[in-house]
Amino acid sequence: MTARVTRTQVGIIGAGPAGLLLGQLLARSGVDAVVLENRSREYVEARQRAGVLEHDVASLLRELGLADRMDTEGIEHGGIYLQFDGERHHIDFHDLAGRSVWVWAQTEVVKDLVAARLAAGLALEFEVSGTAVHDLTADEPRMTYRSADGEQRELVCDVIAGCDGFHGPSRAAVPAGLLTVSERVYPFAWLGVLADVAPSTDELIYAHHPDGFALHSVRTPEVSRLYVQVRPEEDIADWSDERIWAALQTRLGLPGWTLHEGPIREKGITPMRSFVAAPMRHGRLFLAGDAAHIVPPTGAKGLNLAAADVVVLAQALVAWLVDGDERLADSYSDTCLRRVWRATHFSWWMTSMLHTPPGQDPFDARLQLAQLRHVTSSRPAATDLALRYTGQPLP
Ligand code: FAD
Ligand code: PHB
Repeated sequence: MTARVTRTQVGIIGAGPAGLLLGQLLARSGVDAVVLENRSREYVEARQRAGVLEHDVASLLRELGLADRMDTEGIEHGGIYLQFDGERHHIDFHDLAGRSVWVWAQTEVVKDLVAARLAAGLALEFEVSGTAVHDLTADEPRMTYRSADGEQRELVCDVIAGCDGFHGPSRAAVPAGLLTVSERVYPFAWLGVLADVAPSTDELIYAHHPDGFALHSVRTPEVSRLYVQVRPEEDIADWSDERIWAALQTRLGLPGWTLHEGPIREKGITPMRSFVAAPMRHGRLFLAGDAAHIVPPTGAKGLNLAAADVVVLAQALVAWLVDGDERLADSYSDTCLRRVWRATHFSWWMTSMLHTPPGQDPFDARLQLAQLRHVTSSRPAATDLALRYTGQPLP
């Protein structure tokens, strides 16, 4: 079957936060792009994932005119609680870092990005299949795929942006031996639930507990997002709603404070890993977001790193494709990886401090508590956490 051939400047694989945001950033500088997504619009808009936007990522959405709903329905948080040893401590981001974060779910960010792209008449195709990339080191790399209506297509590009998440085809298309992978798989996972109950807290609670970590996050004034640490091999079928609430009550409970329960609407288990693939460029293929790196969710960095990558990538591609200057494209990978490794360290540190590994050595448990006490009692240590959680400035 012969394919219908079209042309664009930037072929973007993946309509997650990275691909959609890159599309918006390129469009405002007049660079043409096509976004291809293998899932349906309904699926990407409902996929439960991250919930916290760094200070500068929230500002970026505002600058792009994508924050009207965030500013009315999202919730600005000026800190977090760290809980351990029967005590709850507040880390005040406003006071320590002069910054805040926005609790605004990835589902909502994606909905606004999709709506903006479609309203502007920019190319975005859902439910494509068989996406493959070709000629990555030639001047005109190509993507082939089948459209939702079954037509075989070929897209000839100047550059391809692999924004297709951890399991997408982009990273796999880089020849073996050219990528260095650094990885840590943790001996635990998060069981996450979405519950129809008003949050029992004004700001997120990260709780260390001998039974395992728990997190109380929020979505809206009526919906709570909660997580408990479980074993990676845990079967979700073994976790009844009652068992989940009991674990949350034990791990988050404090005298004089009530965790309100409600119907659980959705539940799922996410394994935890740190993963960095370098370099983030091969020829004219640029990797961004989860396609290049994964962090455990404890530092709330995944979505924010994806946004930072595409800010750097958009600047590089505009300089190259509009002004003919390839220097920023050449430094793209190094520029991103510096931030990625800082966030990888922060996420690893938060994860290590807060989780109880199976069969934990009592010595390690004492070290965790000493670390938590240090962070909550030393102003310089708390300031460091506040600065890192609210995020490094965007380039
Ligand atoms: P993605 O959001 O994964 O987007 C990639 C897109 O590419 C997807 O829409 C995918 O369908 C599409 N795609 C894949 N293959 C193809 C193909 N062949 N053709 C076309 N399209 C394709 N971070 C936090 O901070 N907090 C959390 O609680 C949290 N929970 C998470 C739970 C899960 C299950 C996962 C996987 C991640 C979680 N993260 C969390 C991380 C955060 O959601 C990601 O870092 C963020 O989604 C990265 O955005 P992205 O655009 O790079 O990748
Ligand atoms: C979430 O709300 O889903 C969330 C918040 C903070 C995290 C991870 C996930 O660290």
